[in-house]
Amino acid sequence: MCGIVGYIGTQQACPILIEGLKKLEYRGYDSAGVALLNGGYIDIIKTVGRLYDLEQKLDGVSPEGSMGIGHTRWATHGRPSDVNSHPHKACDSDFVVVHNGIVENYLELKGWLTARGHVFCSETDTEVLAHLVENYYQGDLLEAVRKAVSKVEGSYAMAVMSDREKDKIVCVRKESPLVIGLGNGEQFIASDIPAILNHTRETYIMDDGEIAVVQIDDVSIYNGSGSKVNKQVFKVNWDQQAAEKGGFEHFMLKEIYEQPPAIKDTLKDRLNVLDYKVELKELSLENQYLKNLNKIFIVACGTAYHAGLIGKHVIEKMTRIPVEVELASEYRYRDPIIDPEKNLVMVISQSGETADTLAAMKLSKGMGAKVLAVTNVVGSSVSREADSVIYTWAGPEIAVASTKAYITQLVAMYLWGLHIAQLKETLSRDQVTKIIDGLRRIPSQVQAILEQAPKVENIAETVHQKEDLFFIGRGLDYAVAQEGSLKLKEISYIHAEAYAAGELKHGTLALVTEDTPVMAVITQKDIYEKTLSNIKEVKARDAYVIAVTVKSNQSIESEVDEVFYVPENENILMPLLTVVPLQLLAYYAALMRGCDVDKPRNLAKSVTVE
Ligand code: M6R
Repeated sequence: MCGIVGYIGTQQACPILIEGLKKLEYRGYDSAGVALLNGGYIDIIKTVGRLYDLEQKLDGVSPEGSMGIGHTRWATHGRPSDVNSHPHKACDSDFVVVHNGIVENYLELKGWLTARGHVFCSETDTEVLAHLVENYYQGDLLEAVRKAVSKVEGSYAMAVMSDREKDKIVCVRKESPLVIGLGNGEQFIASDIPAILNHTRETYIMDDGEIAVVQIDDVSIYNGSGSKVNKQVFKVNWDQQAAEKGGFEHFMLKEIYEQPPAIKDTLKDRLNVLDYKVELKELSLENQYLKNLNKIFIVACGTAYHAGLIGKHVIEKMTRIPVEVELASEYRYRDPIIDPEKNLVMVISQSGETADTLAAMKLSKGMGAKVLAVTNVVGSSVSREADSVIYTWAGPEIAVASTKAYITQLVAMYLWGLHIAQLKETLSRDQVTKIIDGLRRIPSQVQAILEQAPKVENIAETVHQKEDLFFIGRGLDYAVAQEGSLKLKEISYIHAEAYAAGELKHGTLALVTEDTPVMAVITQKDIYEKTLSNIKEVKARDAYVIAVTVKSNQSIESEVDEVFYVPENENILMPLLTVVPLQLLAYYAALMRGCDVDKPRNLAKSVTVE
């Protein structure tokens, strides 16, 4: 995790670095720092705390220099503290680094360097990188960095500067994202595009193993074997505005309200309503291979995993192909059994940079499997390494809590299920027509739910002071309940759990009292009565029950304390609607509890470490 930036040019670097770091705070925000080449030496200013604290520290100091690097941290090795903040330097400040990733063999390297006289001052893995570069420096910074990373096991996006070579920043990437922004007489380095978008739209997206020498008027990139790479310029065509708050108090709320257009954009050009067909023109997997599939693995983390749980229901129902959904962090170490001829691995990742998801993908590819990625970020590692990609067009998602990315991941699951169903003819024309028509209604139905936000605010008023809350549901409703529960705990810090409603009596019911409100998602017609019985069970234990359902189930009003109605649609599409009040509930509850909605404690947007 962490965000890194760099600048070399003719302007004062410090404000540019700070501006870039602000756009990267979603990657981590427990400490921050900058290093600037100020005349003959390098100034390092860093602090534990948020960027605001760094700005306070910089106030009045105004370090000068037109070349510098910066960092916003999410601690992995060493607690958040001034000394553990980046940039890190070698023994005599001549070599300074910022790093995103993990040096897995840092203890071994630290021992080796210490024996050679290097003195360490932090508890971080990163500091070994600065000492390694120093150790290997013999008048050529590029060569020293190359030798240093050859000793490193783990992941890194790293930028290095030295007062011995005042005309360049050297950066290198392995399994952590890194982009170089190309300016006119100035260059920018960042972990992610929004950090440089105010300055340039022309970028180089670095690939694993590449190392770059970034100078005022030249960027040279070399591959792992030292040959110069003829890199294609990637032109960014979305604007900064898209990544700003646009009048909302928080990114999360803005992103919740952006769901109707995000769904429309993800459906756009993919629904042929003349022939009632789904068209995924970007797919490059062969039809015959898809027709022969006998198993699909969906691998993802967090909210993306929850989208996969919905995907399982949807794909199995539409195609009759068995689907296994796995947490990437488990899958990558459990030696999965894959038949490359007849299995497909799907990975879902908003950022396309989640370390565990990437590792799961590499493992699958190594076993000969084809990988289909569902991601929101064009040019992300996942998108580049997959055999085929379905993009979600949610636009940049900044809030740590994923909302619009999740809903568009669900849309991708429906499109994918329909695509395979068409090939295998597992759905009737009538069924396909109903689902496509249903999908087209979703944006306006989500909009209608958003207009009922004050009602959710009232529910939040009732429950926000509770310390525990349960979400229950069956089938697709259960999968949505899991996402609702994650959303609530992640930003409001209320302890929330999701249970398959029928499972309550096997243990969890013992926890239900008048102090544990229960959110019951109950939309699936075939199991309505079953879930209703479970609602009665928790009611009998004095729980305050809020049901999320549709108007045709109005009789539920006599069974529960409150009801939130979502519009009616096809059974299978209901998760696209029921998740919205759960997102709003998490938002308002967090707000009422005074939590930092967009930047919840201990979390970061993009989890690029294992
Ligand atoms: O970028 P990814 O979709 O791969 O991220 C996966 C999870 O880290 C992410 O969904 C996380 O669970 C969200 N913060 C939840 O809101």
